Amino acid sequence: MYLDIRSMAQAVFWMVAGILICWYSAGCPAEACRPEEDASFNLREVIIGTCERFQADHQDVFCPDRFRNCTDIWEAFSGAFRQQPRCNVNESRYDRYVQLTATDLPKDKAVFWENVYHFVSRFTNGGRHYFQVGDTLMGYIPDGLQWCGSLNESDITPGGSKCPSSWEASSHCPQGASRACWVAISKYFAQHVSGEIYVMLNTSVTPIYAIDTYLAEYEIPYLRSGVVTKATALLLNDSPEPGKSQCSDGSLSVLEGQLRQKNISYMCVENRRDVATIYCLDNPTAKLCDSLAHATNSAPTIVG
Ligand SMILES: *[C@@H]1O[C@H](CO)[C@@H](O)[C@H](O)[C@H]1NC(C)=O
Ligand SMILES: *[C@@H]1O[C@H](CO)[C@@H](O)[C@H](O)[C@H]1NC(C)=O
Ligand SMILES: *[C@@H]1O[C@H](CO)[C@@H](O)[C@H](O)[C@H]1NC(C)=O
Ligand SMILES: *[C@@H]1O[C@H](CO)[C@@H](O)[C@H](O)[C@H]1NC(C)=O
Ligand SMILES: *[C@@H]1O[C@H](CO)[C@@H](O)[C@H](O)[C@H]1NC(C)=O
Repeated sequence: MYLDIRSMAQAVFWMVAGILICWYSAGCPAEACRPEEDASFNLREVIIGTCERFQADHQDVFCPDRFRNCTDIWEAFSGAFRQQPRCNVNESRYDRYVQLTATDLPKDKAVFWENVYHFVSRFTNGGRHYFQVGDTLMGYIPDGLQWCGSLNESDITPGGSKCPSSWEASSHCPQGASRACWVAISKYFAQHVSGEIYVMLNTSVTPIYAIDTYLAEYEIPYLRSGVVTKATALLLNDSPEPGKSQCSDGSLSVLEGQLRQKNISYMCVENRRDVATIYCLDNPTAKLCDSLAHATNSAPTIVG
């Protein structure tokens, strides 16, 4: 093999320069190193490890005799997409995974959401305040991972391989392995919550409530009439206008209509105080936080 020293030196230069640029700019876009659609590395070890860790951290749920066997959970999970077509995985293939990871869901505390991925777990505080699907064993295990089926591979698709674009359906890839999993999990979650529920939405996204989302397709329609009694939309509006609430946005009437069909009463609040307070911990300069400022101004002055 012919080695061109000059082009190798150039390649090394640009690699080092790239790393330094990333380092100085404090975080590169994810696609710079590991694209989102690449299959996760060490999937088996990560799934089993995450499953063990979650149970260790939630002993109140799993102790003393309800610990789940994470090896069995891995077999059920990977069995759903082993030797399956890349873009056509039926969500019912995850039924065994869902059955093995199912836990009781506390009443009056479930949060559904769209477009607030990072914020919602701050708000739920990992299940201690409210809980969202990612705070349950079932949703926590695959969160942030990527994987896919392949008829060619004898085992699972190796880490770093390209997988079809994760959870969104498209005409050339209606349902890959990840999407099928999230559909199964979303349906289970919606079918098992009870009492009063919350729906957190981000007003920076148009429409605020879109009909082609997991929320609108696989969650709200699966809530149980008579078991879920009330739904409160919690709107997060980063830049609210005084005297104007996005609760009057037309897209929300679609949500209200879906709920009415199930005899679930509906309410909407923009920037509820607890939502705003938690948001402002991480985003203190957002316009929304101005409205909280007077609280600190009125604090007693310490003299001395
Ligand atoms: C979990 O299940 C596997 C096989 O299904 C078994 O070999 C293993 O001993 C089990 N582990 C525990 C801790 O029960
Ligand atoms: C998925 O499987 C279930 C049960 O086997 C079946 O009822 C359903 O029609 C299948 N869905 C699709 C899209 O093929
Ligand atoms: C709301 O949506 C905007 C636009 O997509 C996004 O930049 C922002 O991070 C989202 N806010 C939260 C809290 O996730
Ligand atoms: C799978 O195998 C078929 C037939 O051998 C081949 O045409 C195709 O490119 C392979 N796909 C992948 C993803 O390796
Ligand atoms: C609808 O809900 C209300 C209050 O929760 C209840 O009194 C009423 O019987 C329900 N109606 C139907 C048709 O289920």
